[in-house]
This record gives sequence, structure tokens and C-alpha cells, in this order.
Amino acid sequence: MKRKDFIKRIGFGASAITFSPLLISCLDGNSVQKGDFQLPLALPSELTGTNSTLNASPSNIQIGDSYSLSAFQFNDSIPGPSIRKKRGDTVQIRFENNIGQESIIHWHGLIVPPDMDGHPRDAFTEGSYDYEYTINQRAGTYWYHPHPHRITGPQVYRGLAGFYLVEDGEEQALNLPSGQHEIPLVIQDRRISGNEIVYNPSIPDRMMSGFLGDLILVNGVPTPFHDVGPGYYRLRILNGSNARIYNLAFENDTPFTVIGTDGGLLPKPIETNELLLAPGERADILVDFSTGFDQDRARLISKLFDVPSGGMMGMQNMMGSGYEQGTGFSIMEFRITKSDANTSFELPEQLSKVELPKESDARTTRPIQLDMQMGQGHTINGRLFEMERVDVEVNQGDTEIWEFINNTNFPHPMHVHAVHFKVLGRSGNRGLLPTETGWKDTVLVMPSERVRVIMKFDAPKGLYVFHCHNLEHEDAGMMANFQIH
Ligand code: C2O
Ligand code: CU
Ligand code: CU
Repeated sequence: MKRKDFIKRIGFGASAITFSPLLISCLDGNSVQKGDFQLPLALPSELTGTNSTLNASPSNIQIGDSYSLSAFQFNDSIPGPSIRKKRGDTVQIRFENNIGQESIIHWHGLIVPPDMDGHPRDAFTEGSYDYEYTINQRAGTYWYHPHPHRITGPQVYRGLAGFYLVEDGEEQALNLPSGQHEIPLVIQDRRISGNEIVYNPSIPDRMMSGFLGDLILVNGVPTPFHDVGPGYYRLRILNGSNARIYNLAFENDTPFTVIGTDGGLLPKPIETNELLLAPGERADILVDFSTGFDQDRARLISKLFDVPSGGMMGMQNMMGSGYEQGTGFSIMEFRITKSDANTSFELPEQLSKVELPKESDARTTRPIQLDMQMGQGHTINGRLFEMERVDVEVNQGDTEIWEFINNTNFPHPMHVHAVHFKVLGRSGNRGLLPTETGWKDTVLVMPSERVRVIMKFDAPKGLYVFHCHNLEHEDAGMMANFQIH
């Protein structure tokens, strides 16, 4: 049964269908945090120098005016400092772990040797880990976050995540909006109890929906505002939430242009007025604030969307925490108050030369079954993660098709380390999203869907993981090892 049908049957009026915050408050007695757009957006600082340190440490901080958070932070900031590098750069970063629990950093979207990739078996509790690798891949909006087994969710939630921006000549030549016209935005939902941001997943949160909250933070600030001028801006949006999917749109359905995703620029820009973005995914978009918005303001929202039912037990979607997946939210407000117009930029027809693999290049098609097993939670090919067990073996240089088959009632954003892939297709009627015309590293597999992706394993030989990027699912074992031989 679809969620909307369910709502109708339990007797909410038509207004509840389009005004979902009401729905949340009806279901669990909590009121949704209305976006008030009172606080200015914060922009992450940048980590500079070739030889730098990321120091993770705990502290109690304030979020906005009203909430306290027992945080973990990289270099005393939330989000962590952005790393900005060029293709070809050799990167040396020391990770100092002072949070009193095991951790390791993963550079999500970067293709690096296995011992540089933040495999959970490299997690450590005290001291530091030295990373050194050369960036040999396309420009893109990547990110970094911890990756210890079972506790990635709480560490990211408490603040450990940051952007990792890679630039190259091809991108440079496009003259995309930059400087103050290029804005990284990490969107994260948080749950509050009293005046505190808490992480206390129940068993259904862990085993079913993942941990959903109803306070939306952008770059660590609750539903902020930001002043812009009438012209093009480049928004690099990261869904850094543990479990929540956003259906990005502007309040009045003003179109925007998708230019890139997980693995960098798309072949061509694509105009749309909404875009689903699951945990771990990135959307690089251009917005022209000079046209299509009323009253000098543009509100970025997440529009209500349906989570398709996974069959007989579809109602489980409704029975988790009450902070339901698919609900509509305000995210932030752009105030079109500045005078600088940035009119020199023209949207090119062609963005990037993308050489995508052909289906006929693939040696194998590998089914990856995603199941829900009573008492265990979500499994990959029937099993929970084990640190040293090799689940999939591939040969270096081979191209394979992996088919993710979601037999559960929950969305699973599936992420594969050490590769970028192309989404070939998905069953059902959703089709491909604008972001799925380019290189991806994370793909949303809705209940009942089968999604086929193609990828070539060119990374250095060794052991890597793939997993669901719903962090509660991942922590509960929805992860597997693959070995490149
Ligand atoms: Cu963003 Cu394996 O993770
Ligand atoms: Cu990753
Ligand atoms: Cu999942």
C-alpha cells in the first residue's frame, strides 16, 4: 500500500497529504521544527597546506540559538574543514583521533589504495593515522567521514564529516561560478529532545527506517538564510544525513540545473524542478537567482515524496519512529538582496567528456540481494558484515554489472568504495534521475526495485567495502567486503 493511500485510510483530510508536517505531529505528538530562516548560513573553512592534520575531538557545543550537542568535531568545527585539491596533487593528511573511541577516515568518492581508504579494520582508538595518496581522478564534490564498524552513524551524526573538493582543468575551463558564488551545502536532519540534539535510535530505528530527525541543519545551522545576488550560483549539495532522503526543490517549483553528481560533472546540464538525493549522494546544481523567484527570496525545500511499498509488509514504513521518510521540509532560504549580478557566466551546452562503459564490456552480472531478516536486520546476499570475510572477488581491470535487488520495505542507498559506476537502469517507473546520467558512487534503490550499475575495477588490488549508506543499516551490518585481485 502506498503511503498516501494509507494516510487517506486512516482518515486525515486532504490537507494532511500536501502539508506533511501536520502528519508528523499527529503521529507522534512531536511538533515539527518550523524553518524560521533566522540564522545566517555558515560556510566551512578550508584546510590549507599540503601537509595537514584533521584532529577529531569531543566538546559540548551550541547548534543555533537553542540546541546543545555533545559533539565530535574535526578541527573544532562543524562541518569539518573542506579539503580542496587538484587532480594530480599528492595529499598528506594526519588523522588524530582524540574522541576516545575507535575511528578511521574514509574519503568518500576518492579512489585510493586499500590502506588509505578507511576500511573499518584499520580503525584505531588512540594516536594517529597518516594518509598519503595521489589524486588521479575527475574533479568532483567528494566528502570525508569516519568508517568504524558499528559506530559510523553516531560519529557522523555528532559532527564528523566534511567536504572534499577536487578540481581539474576540464572543469576550470568552464568558468563555473566560483568564490562567493560557489556554495557547499551539507544537509543533515537531527532529532531533538528538549533543548538537546540526541542520538538514541530505537530498535525499529536501527533495524528498519534508520535514524530520522525533524530539525534540518545546513552546514550545522538550523534552517538558515543566505544573501545572494541576482545571477548564477553553484550549489554543491551533499546529503550528509544518516537516513533521510531529500526531494530537493524550490518552494515555487522554479527550475534549476543539475551539472554534476558523485563522480563530477555530467556530460550535459539537465534542468529539473525536483531531485531526490539519498544519504551519501551529491548534487552539483546551478541556480539563477535572477529569474523565477518572487519577493526576492528563494526557499530550498524537500518536497513530499512517496516511498514505494515493498509488498505485504509495506506498512512497516509507517511504524518506525514517526519521523517519517518522505515528509516535506524547509531546508533554507536564499535572500536575493545583493546587487552583484555575476552576469558573465553562460551555461555551456556540453559540460564534460564522460566515457561511460558499455554493457557489452561487462564480464559478469552479479546479483546483490538486499533482504530484511527477522532479528538480524538488513542483509547483503543473506549475510551481515564480517570484518575479514571476503564476500565478492573481482579481477583488477574487469568491468562488471552489479544488480542491486531490494526485497525489503526500506530504501537502500548503496555505495561502492574504490569505483565510480554508471547506473544502467532500474525496474519500475522511476527511471533515471538527472544525476544518474553521470558517474555515481551511491545509488538509491527503493523498495521492490532492481537497479543495475556498471563499473570497472581499476583501483589498486586489495580489500574494500560496499554498503548501504543509511548509516544505521550500515552499522547493523548491511556492508560487505570485496577483494580486487
Ligand atoms: Cu560514505 Cu563507505 O562511505
Ligand atoms: Cu565511500
Ligand atoms: Cu539500507
